[in-house]
Amino acid sequence: MRICFVCLGNICRSPTAEGVMAAVLADAGRSSGFELDSAGTSAYHVGERPDARSQAAAKRHGVALPGRARQLVRADFERFDLIVVMDRRNLRDARAIAGPTAGAPIALLRAFDPLADDVDVPDPYYGAGDGFERVFQICRAGCAGLLRAIDAGGLDEAVAWTAERAP
Ligand code: 4NP
Repeated sequence: MRICFVCLGNICRSPTAEGVMAAVLADAGRSSGFELDSAGTSAYHVGERPDARSQAAAKRHGVALPGRARQLVRADFERFDLIVVMDRRNLRDARAIAGPTAGAPIALLRAFDPLADDVDVPDPYYGAGDGFERVFQICRAGCAGLLRAIDAGGLDEAVAWTAERAP
């Protein structure tokens, strides 16, 4: 299964989700069945490594963040089986990039977290302090739930939940 995590800049939230999902899969002995990537809806930070604050938060939990920022493109909706966005703005922007032809379904990460107190993963970029730790914790809950949903055949439900939250 191929999954692409998407945020605005591809330097904070989506690389964190990608790194956390890789760790969740490794812990479960499931890495071999998956191909993971991440991308941004904007081109603001293309080519850059993940934000140092995101890397530090992940490192505290033994998670390395891979890759360099790239922009989401139409072809990603053919290449991946699932696009996981961090917030409703990403959802709208990703839909615009996908265009009218059918492609990979889109789900909000928090659709996979039964205890989520919000629909969006908050953007930590301009915030101070523990925003990055909070993003890490949200990604951990969301990615654990994503694996559960995959195993339980619950992806359609998360995609429908997403569509209802941002028509
Ligand atoms: P991300 O965070 O979408 O989680 O990577 C951001 C990174 C950069 C900007 C905004 C959000 N920016 O405006 O440059």
